[in-house]
Amino acid sequence: MKPDELLQRHKAVIPEWVSLYYDEPMEISHGEGFRVWDSEGNEYLDFFGGIVTTISGHNIPEIVEAVREQAGKVMHSSTLYLIENQIKLAEKLISVSPISGDQKVFFVNSGSEANEAALLFATQYRRSSEVLAMRGSYHGGSFGTMGITGQSTWRPTSRSALDVTYAMPPHHSYSSLYGRYEKDAEFARACAEDMRNLIQTATTGHVAALIAEPVQGVGGFIELPPEYIRGVKEILDETGILYISDEVQTAFGRTGSHFWGIEESGVEPDMITMAKGLGNGLAIGAVMGRSELLDSMAGKLHLATFGGNHVSTAGALANLEYILENDLQKNADEVGGYLKDRLVKMAKDSPVVGEVRGRGLMLALEMVGPEGGPNPQAAVRFLQACRERGVLVGKGGIGANAVRISPPLSITREAAKEAADAFEEALAEIGSEAKVS
Ligand SMILES: Cc1ncc(COP(=O)(O)O)c(C=O)c1O
Repeated sequence: MKPDELLQRHKAVIPEWVSLYYDEPMEISHGEGFRVWDSEGNEYLDFFGGIVTTISGHNIPEIVEAVREQAGKVMHSSTLYLIENQIKLAEKLISVSPISGDQKVFFVNSGSEANEAALLFATQYRRSSEVLAMRGSYHGGSFGTMGITGQSTWRPTSRSALDVTYAMPPHHSYSSLYGRYEKDAEFARACAEDMRNLIQTATTGHVAALIAEPVQGVGGFIELPPEYIRGVKEILDETGILYISDEVQTAFGRTGSHFWGIEESGVEPDMITMAKGLGNGLAIGAVMGRSELLDSMAGKLHLATFGGNHVSTAGALANLEYILENDLQKNADEVGGYLKDRLVKMAKDSPVVGEVRGRGLMLALEMVGPEGGPNPQAAVRFLQACRERGVLVGKGGIGANAVRISPPLSITREAAKEAADAFEEALAEIGSEAKVS
């Protein structure tokens, strides 16, 4: 079916706020590794991975075969019965966990659900409904997670089951009020210290948890500096506030230097939430954390009917093994380093790029206007210009002006070069338009 016909049918039956990329939206019909094809036969380098999700790549034989084999045996039995794949996946995740001591894993179907569950455990354990979250965060589209999301665009309601207080991330960029601060580490420590004041002044003092992404994903790949995370953890520890690291985008080597995003800071969180890359496209999410936290639900019953089902855990296990056996984290570090260097160089001559940021294969370009403010039109133009050159990238940021680059971690240097050449041409095109207008 032609994409324009499909678009009309989409509009007739899908809510209008389910937004599509491009003036002429496309349907991706199949993929191979880090390449995808649309229904018209055009080939692209997939540099967004279905919103930072296709972490190993498309059509990976080991993963496809594991799913196929399991689907042919049994797809569903529910958590009322033992599921070997689920147990194996939990054991594997715990074996690579940055949290020490006894741990448990609870499986769900998405990142939103993983965060819901982590908040449930934290609030039960601490007997408090108060939660700290970060401005600029995104934690999901369910009712509870919208309440801890620090972006008005993603918050159609201000109602929340939780009492939430938002802290300021020490980000320096064109979109930040504090954009021109000089001493990053010092500013990061001052922001961390502000957390103490926030707890003293804006909460009852008995807070359940802080939830934070090590690198804000939907927020436009904004990193929380390690000294900030360390400073905040010390303050949380003074009153036993739990640290939940939302690793839905940053897990499994995405950030290059470490397997989990928070590891760069050396801080050990109490719970980690994950989804996206865990299933390489299969619907699966999980909370992993200290046993006493996950077991704090004892005496109450809780379940997710599909959570950790036979097929999603078979695929996720094969995916996790693929990531580890092929050391995709190392590849993310090396290829990501090359790509970042290229982006920094091309940004120097571009009037529309205010900042290049991120690490590993989680890189962003902040698109700015002549006065340095957010330039969402330039981000849209960049996406289209890249599409015309055979590369798919994404968008994000509070001002919708951050271009997000997050290919599968299996991307080769040659493909990264091909994409970087396309980015350079696309920037030159947009830059010359900016000079004319
Ligand atoms: C950091 C983070 N947490 C949670 C979520 C929600 O995940 P899902 O869309 O699978 O519910 C997202 C989705 O983009 C995310 O980026």
